[in-house]
Amino acid sequence: MCGIIGITSNKPVITNIISSLKKLEYRGYDSAGIATLAKNFIDEVKCEGRVTKLEKICSKKSIEGIIGIGHVRWATHGVPNEVNAHPHSSENVSVVHNGIIENSTLLKKYLEKRGYIFKSQTDTEVITHLLSEFLKKNKLVAAIQKTLAKLHGSYALGILIKNHPDIIIGARRGSPLAVGYGHNENYLGSDSYALKAMTNRVSYLEDGDICIVKKDQVDFYNSNGKKINKKILELSDKNEEYQKGDFQTFMQKEIFEQPQTVKACINEYVDTLRDEINIYNLPWNLKEVKSICLIGCGTAYHACMMAKNWIENLTDIDVVTEIASEFRYKKNNFKKDNLYIFVSQSGETADTFAALELCKKNKMKTLGVVNVVESSIARSSNFVLPIHCGSEIGVASTKAFLGQMLVLYIFALQIGFLQKKLKKNDYKSKIKLLKKLPELIKKTMSVEADVQIIAKTFADSKGSMFLGRGLSYPIAMEGALKLKELCYVHAEGYPAGEMKHGPLALIEDGMPVVILAPRDKHYDKTLSNMQEVIARGAKVLLISNKGKEEISSDNLWKKILVENCSDELLPFLITLPLQMLALHAAKYKGYDIDKPRNLAKSVTVE
Ligand code: G6P
Repeated sequence: MCGIIGITSNKPVITNIISSLKKLEYRGYDSAGIATLAKNFIDEVKCEGRVTKLEKICSKKSIEGIIGIGHVRWATHGVPNEVNAHPHSSENVSVVHNGIIENSTLLKKYLEKRGYIFKSQTDTEVITHLLSEFLKKNKLVAAIQKTLAKLHGSYALGILIKNHPDIIIGARRGSPLAVGYGHNENYLGSDSYALKAMTNRVSYLEDGDICIVKKDQVDFYNSNGKKINKKILELSDKNEEYQKGDFQTFMQKEIFEQPQTVKACINEYVDTLRDEINIYNLPWNLKEVKSICLIGCGTAYHACMMAKNWIENLTDIDVVTEIASEFRYKKNNFKKDNLYIFVSQSGETADTFAALELCKKNKMKTLGVVNVVESSIARSSNFVLPIHCGSEIGVASTKAFLGQMLVLYIFALQIGFLQKKLKKNDYKSKIKLLKKLPELIKKTMSVEADVQIIAKTFADSKGSMFLGRGLSYPIAMEGALKLKELCYVHAEGYPAGEMKHGPLALIEDGMPVVILAPRDKHYDKTLSNMQEVIARGAKVLLISNKGKEEISSDNLWKKILVENCSDELLPFLITLPLQMLALHAAKYKGYDIDKPRNLAKSVTVE
């Protein structure tokens, strides 16, 4: 999704803006641009495509501005091209914007009547002209407030104004925005990741806030125009380096990091000497929770589906899962004993955040399960359980999925134990088994060589199916999503037992089908479903775990066996070959693995 950077300094800012834009590339984008202000002139450079292209264009010009804004755009209104790329500048004002202005058509008509000429097809350009209009008769803060009051929808903004050559204005409603503090320079950024290379001291804007950033001072105003003070927070890992190391892509690195990230997360939540879970200081009593609603999007939603199974198996609590974009607009029966859990890697997904705000408005208990601890969801939830897996750069989520499942499993054990549905001995023995998980993940990584060969068939197919029952059903959904995201082929994730109620009609000779049949209580039933698809000509890849009995079946195409572990933990292991399958299928096709087409890492618009 779109990303914003702004720098005001006492030296030229172009180099740092470009390198910050490169940091924002992971979000997914299709065009980029910058504007700097020097000698009473707004200099704008934009292009379709990558930041390296923008960098090349800039290197041929002399860009001297000591104040500037930059943007990477993920198109919503208007095709990705140079004109529609941000910033959108007039002679006096230049604007970069994340979000969507929903009433832009009406505002455009109003402005056109007043003589403003629009160059782009974007919703953002109305902000440039509205602000120019209000600046004619108002002082700076009043003009900004009047402009913002006209906008419906969501925004994070970075603005330069010719007549105020020492300031960058920031404003937020619905899309995240942060201010960073440097030495003789200050920054504006759509997330702290873009700022981390320059500073570890940041403040976050809340909805309705405006900030005026000078190189040596930052002023904040709330939605009533009242000057406010902001806490300065220290980011934990200023010097953390995001390198691919020996891997060709971040995604591959992130897959192979999972033994370490899972171990780090277990160490955060498990007292490994006493075999107990360390989740303290929750603001409510877990013993009193009567129902749980888990909310997320995409991969995070699949982690919610997993958690539903675990919590239902380990407690008597009623559990539902909700897709955030549906939940936020439907009628909900908010009950005071209900706990709402928001699962999000980025912590910035617009729909998940809006669902959280809705629950807060209704005074519900809210728990965030996030990776980015400085994110909006983390800051807004009553309590946060971070997944501790480090930055995830590949757009298609891998290690964060395992991290989300892990935290939710640990939480399920804790709530089961506290509600006395899980006996102390069982609780401890499950924790003992959990401690072995990183090693089992590590051993399972050896399946990569086989998966790599198998992946070609999936890459060449026009469609495939992923089937599983029970705990393997959410993993089937996730496996299909990974293949769609990376390899751009149709893939259907389905509960194996439901397949004969429709999707079976899709099976034809040679169609690759993944059967997830770990040796759990569903094993025999799933193998029967496997026979049904084999009988109709499918090329079946069976994914199971190692066991005493050899699995053999006539006409079974391929078999991958992960390590053996308790039924509850098998979902972690059977996920690994599916991540690798999508990765290698996309490699065969020569696609951009870390930045699949049309997708974004942090979906900050609804
Ligand atoms: C995007 C990404 C997915 C991710 C989803 C939810 O669609 O492409 O990989 O699962 O957003 O993101 P979140 O940050 O909320 O987990």
